[in-house]
Amino acid sequence: MKGSSFVFLYVVCALAQSAYGATVGYDHRALVIDGRRRVLISGSIHYPRSTPDMWPGLVQKSKDGGLDVIETYIFWNLHEPVRKQYDFEGRKDLVKFVKTVADAGLLVHLRIGPYVCAEWNYGGFPLWLHFIPGIEFRTDNEPFKTEMQRFTAKIVDMMKQEKLFASQGGPIILAQIENEYGNIESAYGSAGKSYINWAASMATALDTGVPWVMCQQADAPDPIINTCNGFYCDQFTPNSDKKPKMWTENWSGWFLSFGGAVPHRPVEDLAFSVARFFQRGGTFQNYYMYHGGTNFGHTTGGPFIATSYDYDAPLDEYGMVRQPKWGHLRDLHKSIKLCEAALVATDPTYTSLGPNLEAHVYKTGSGTCAAFLANVGTQSDATVTFNGNTYHLPAWSVSILPDCKNVVFNTAKINSQANHMEMRRLRSESERQDPKQIVGSSETFQSDWSSVTEPVGISKSNAFKKSGLAEQINTTADASDYLWYSLSFEINGDEPFLLNGTQTVLHVESLGHVLHAFINGKLSGSGMGNRDNAKVVLEKTIMLVQGKNTIDLLSATVGLQNYGAFYEKTGAGVTGPVKLKGNNGSLDLSSNQWTYQIGLKGEELGLYEDSSGSSSQWVSQSTLPKNQPLIWYKTNFEAPDGNDPIALDFTGMGKGEAWVNGQSIGRYWPTYISPQNGCADSCNYKGSYSSSKCQKGCGMPSQKLYHVPRSWIQPSGNTLVLFEEMGGDPTQISFATRETESLCAHVSESHPPPVAAWGSDLWMARKLGPVIRLECPSPNQLISEIKFASFGTPQGTCGSYGHGRCNSTSALAVVQQACVGSKNCSIGVSVETFGDPCVGVVKSLAVEAACT
Ligand code: GAL
Repeated sequence: MKGSSFVFLYVVCALAQSAYGATVGYDHRALVIDGRRRVLISGSIHYPRSTPDMWPGLVQKSKDGGLDVIETYIFWNLHEPVRKQYDFEGRKDLVKFVKTVADAGLLVHLRIGPYVCAEWNYGGFPLWLHFIPGIEFRTDNEPFKTEMQRFTAKIVDMMKQEKLFASQGGPIILAQIENEYGNIESAYGSAGKSYINWAASMATALDTGVPWVMCQQADAPDPIINTCNGFYCDQFTPNSDKKPKMWTENWSGWFLSFGGAVPHRPVEDLAFSVARFFQRGGTFQNYYMYHGGTNFGHTTGGPFIATSYDYDAPLDEYGMVRQPKWGHLRDLHKSIKLCEAALVATDPTYTSLGPNLEAHVYKTGSGTCAAFLANVGTQSDATVTFNGNTYHLPAWSVSILPDCKNVVFNTAKINSQANHMEMRRLRSESERQDPKQIVGSSETFQSDWSSVTEPVGISKSNAFKKSGLAEQINTTADASDYLWYSLSFEINGDEPFLLNGTQTVLHVESLGHVLHAFINGKLSGSGMGNRDNAKVVLEKTIMLVQGKNTIDLLSATVGLQNYGAFYEKTGAGVTGPVKLKGNNGSLDLSSNQWTYQIGLKGEELGLYEDSSGSSSQWVSQSTLPKNQPLIWYKTNFEAPDGNDPIALDFTGMGKGEAWVNGQSIGRYWPTYISPQNGCADSCNYKGSYSSSKCQKGCGMPSQKLYHVPRSWIQPSGNTLVLFEEMGGDPTQISFATRETESLCAHVSESHPPPVAAWGSDLWMARKLGPVIRLECPSPNQLISEIKFASFGTPQGTCGSYGHGRCNSTSALAVVQQACVGSKNCSIGVSVETFGDPCVGVVKSLAVEAACT
């Protein structure tokens, strides 16, 4: 009898769950999903920064990496480019993305914003919002609040209609309103506070059945959970002890800027920050980004944010696993999950184990116990005594003990494989034409290039005149990156602003971002701002002619501002003064009557479109114009062989935009070089990370490779169109494919055994000892070669290992025997396997292998 009533109850519950969904609540220690108290690991993937065909793979790799939740922003300007005209197709198919996550069995955190920051153009706001009379963004302003509420409600309704909230049986367990408003709230005075209270009640009234969060919002009113963003959030506490400690953005790296070096956050530090968070009472942690992806088209924010949004994330821009980051974090997540029962039950008890040495213990009444031991010092390793046992704690590391006894993971000891990824460069057109060049493997560009010259100055019928210099964003409404400012004037040769003969100095000041000055149709100078200062001051000696002269200034934006109080008011373009300066006087042209043209002639003609009616415009000359400004180029190409992700290498080009089969792969700018200094030869992960620490690629183009999604191309007959603004040689462009060159692993005798081995029987795993495990990236590959193996004191990193003083002579043969010909292999890192080449020294095994 008892048994059958239990079954009955179970069936009712199961039915209730599918028909009515799960309840999602929270308390001080946990998110409570359908009665189950959870700690959750989450990662950001922004759906428009990849393509729908990539989504299932990205989500699966996130799941395999140990994530429970996928977090995404919603991008208002993508979905509502024109007021009340919505677009949810292709990369914008939010519903499909959420369902893809659900299909993999993962949960969703929907960060609606609708202000999102996110290095996204204009912070996600559509430009039309700016032109609503009387509007003030992100404050207690009726026109703004009306629009924000309308869009937020629209998204919530869409999700409800598809039954996507957890309360309806869907995957969405959390939603976010606003974004980091607390960082700038004081600039808005008391209206800021009332705006936040309004946003909170507006969101709550939408009745999603799941909790809302506000990030970086210490005063978030109940029941909204205030959450933390940053490189470390272990010191954060929410504004009520009824709320869990949540970390919505743990920056896994940082964004790339044109003109900046490539950010890199070492995984030892990232893992340390996560372990510290859970050590000190954390409940929910999200990687921003888990997959960063690509800023296609004009989606990038700015100014000067690059097209790649790789972010040094665990999944790279192309969606491939980045090692050892991905694997080390996967092991960390498994270790944290082994502690879940203890974590959700109680607050930790803290004990000091010495200076910089901390133990936090989660212990329940029923005896469940988990402990985290940290060495927060940056200088020296330590040996600590805890519960009567001794433990080695490297500097800046956390050890995780899911049974308060056995260490299953230490954040500084990487047990996971490190893949050495390479972009393999295929031949460019110019190399293919040159018989002296080494022959590459793929012939990709199929035909010669044709071109169209973009006219200098005014060429469109919609040009207009206006007195004085106009601010660019208010003029173009971001319909194009480009705005022409054109002026003609007469001189007779005796003007006081002339120097020698008809020479003079042209002085132009612009709010940014890039400026090209043409005098009488010829480019005479360019200037550009940078991420710290977008302004351009151009001063250039120019030659005029007697009679009529023309000044054409082409101003270009590189992504609109996305952050800061009143950021939407940051202007761009030539706001002056514009002057001609000579020895005896100057002429200020700022308030003259200028002629304006929004956008380019080629944009109007749709030269970038796949099947444009513009084919008659294209000219195939025997001599292609090269290294000249304002040229459109076009060619056909075949897809590079295979299925590896592909990129275009724009070395040889200046600055512009590229379209593949009519789709914009974004702005390219390989000539913007990062500073010579500021990169570290070797990166010390110990100590607080900041975005400028451990950078790579100093003195190199910030970005020379641009992702071309496989799904945008066919095997042959593809079109590539470029608009080159400054001057370049398109025949130097080449394709590159992203491939795994080698697999590496380097594990010390003192490492804990791989966390995969830790199950319920911790003792068994401990007996196993440290292990190296190698696995080919693709299921149909086998390990073909061991390029390097050393047991002893090997040095260096993946791709450049070398033998140390101590080296077992049997290492290479042992590893070859165990691995060659297999998909994967495991080797014990111990003297039992290799013999002892140097008694008394802590030894490690380093292996580099190749798969084919
Ligand atoms: C945060 C913001 C994110 C993103 C990040 C930097 O402050 O909330 O949207 O901009 O900085 O990548």
